Formats: sequence, structure tokens, C-alpha cells
Amino acid sequence: MSADGKLSTRERRQVRISGRSDLTRVDCLRAESDAVMVGIGTVLADDPSLAVKSEALRLDRLERGEEENPVRIVVDSSARIPPSAAVLHRGTGRRVIAVSGRSDPEKLRELEPLATIVRTGTDRVDLAAFVQELHRMGVNRLMVEGGGTLIWGLLSEGLVDEVTCFIGNMIIGGERAPTLAEGDGFIREDSFIRLSLVSVEPMDEGLLIRWLVRK
Ligand SMILES: NC(=O)c1ccc[n+]([C@@H]2O[C@H](COP(=O)([O-])OP(=O)(O)OC[C@H]3O[C@@H](n4cnc5c(N)ncnc54)[C@H](OP(=O)(O)O)[C@@H]3O)[C@@H](O)[C@H]2O)c1
Repeated sequence: MSADGKLSTRERRQVRISGRSDLTRVDCLRAESDAVMVGIGTVLADDPSLAVKSEALRLDRLERGEEENPVRIVVDSSARIPPSAAVLHRGTGRRVIAVSGRSDPEKLRELEPLATIVRTGTDRVDLAAFVQELHRMGVNRLMVEGGGTLIWGLLSEGLVDEVTCFIGNMIIGGERAPTLAEGDGFIREDSFIRLSLVSVEPMDEGLLIRWLVRK
């Protein structure tokens, strides 16, 4: 996020906040994860592939007996994902789309050759049930790359163990620009999610902060 806590502009256009060291760090984190997940808002705004960029890191994964890329996951209650989305095509490996009961069966049939479809929840993906299903599928280390709506959903349901945040050296501004945790937000102080500081380090003229979520 930017120094003022924004993930992008008020038009929700993708912007580059990370410097080179942070991009390398994120690629390493992807390569060490069993799966990488984003919300459909991020797919529609940024069309990320979520693939591991470094060839060396992909080879390391193959040597460890893993697939080249972690499982790539999109949380998308009504299956709005375009079948041409980069995440469904770029790089090898498994894909999972998490949908709810309100997804259109015809669209699901179109997506089935491209990804495993997991259905939970009636109107919205039931994140707790979905995360349990991922565990059954062998996903133990799940990295979530945003956006703020999905991050809020996971945090507010107590499903996050760790928050790692790079804070870049720019101000984006805009009251409608997305932030790290969106949704409704908490009102009562005793509901706030409390974090324990693990480390802070300067990086690319910004800061890298690691916190554990207090349970
Ligand atoms: N700076 C960064 O590192 C970074 C990273 C990622 C994204 N971004 C930015 O963030 C913005 C996109 O974020 P966003 O908040 O709009 O979208 P998002 O968090 O990527 O996706 C949110 C969507 O996920 C779906 N969802 C399904 N079940 C959910 C649940 N139980 N809880 C929460 N969400 C659920 C909802 O759509 P349905 O109801 O249709 O399922 C929801 O609208 C873009 O501007 C992007 O550029 C920045």
C-alpha cells in the first residue's frame, strides 16, 4: 500500500507501489506458498496471472516435487471471471474458482475445463468453508494478494494468521481509493483485530512490516 494506506487509485486502476526488492520478495512468497488467492475485483481490475515470475524459483519448486506454480485461486461468488483471464491461462498448474449458489450453471460449464470449481455459500462464497475445503485439497500455506474486500472478509472471519505489508513512498489520496481492509469495518474498539509486530525493515525507500494476528 501507499504511505496513506491506498492499494490503488480511486478509479481502481493498478499502480506500481513496490520497488524491485519488494517485487522479488512477493515472488519468493508466492513460490513458497501452496496457493495464491485474489478476489474477483482484483481479476477484473488488474488481470494478474499470479504465476511465479522467476524461472529459478519455478525450478526450485519442481525440484521439491511441487508444481511449477502454486494453486491459483479466485473468489468469485457469481462466476463473473472472463474465461480469457490471464490467471486461467498463463503458466502451468492448478486453478480453483470459489463460487456460491448464485453462479450461473452455464457459465460454470464454460469454466470447468479451465479450473476446479468449488461451491460454498448461498449468495456469497463462505470463506470459512472454502478454506477448509482448500485444506482438504492439500493447501496448508495460503497467500492472499488482495484486494481489500477479500482481505476484510478473511480478517473479519478470523481466517488470517499473518499480515505482511509493504508501505511505498508515495501518497495516492482519494477517499474512495481502496485500502488494505474494506468491507463494513468494525465500530466497537473491542472488535478491532489486534496484531503483534514481528519485524520492520526499510525496503526500496519504503517499509516492510510483518505482523501476526492475535487470536
Ligand atoms: N496494491 C496491491 O497490492 C493490490 C493487490 C490487489 C488488488 N489491488 C487493487 O484492489 C482493487 C480490487 O479490490 P476489491 O476490493 O475491489 O476486490 P477484491 O477484494 O479483489 O474482490 C472482492 C470481491 O470478492 C468477492 N467475494 C466473494 N465472496 C466474498 C467474501 N465472503 N468476502 C469478500 N469478498 C468476497 C466479491 O464479489 P462477488 O460477490 O461477485 O463474489 C467481492 O466484491 C483494485 O483497484 C486493485 O488494483 C491492489
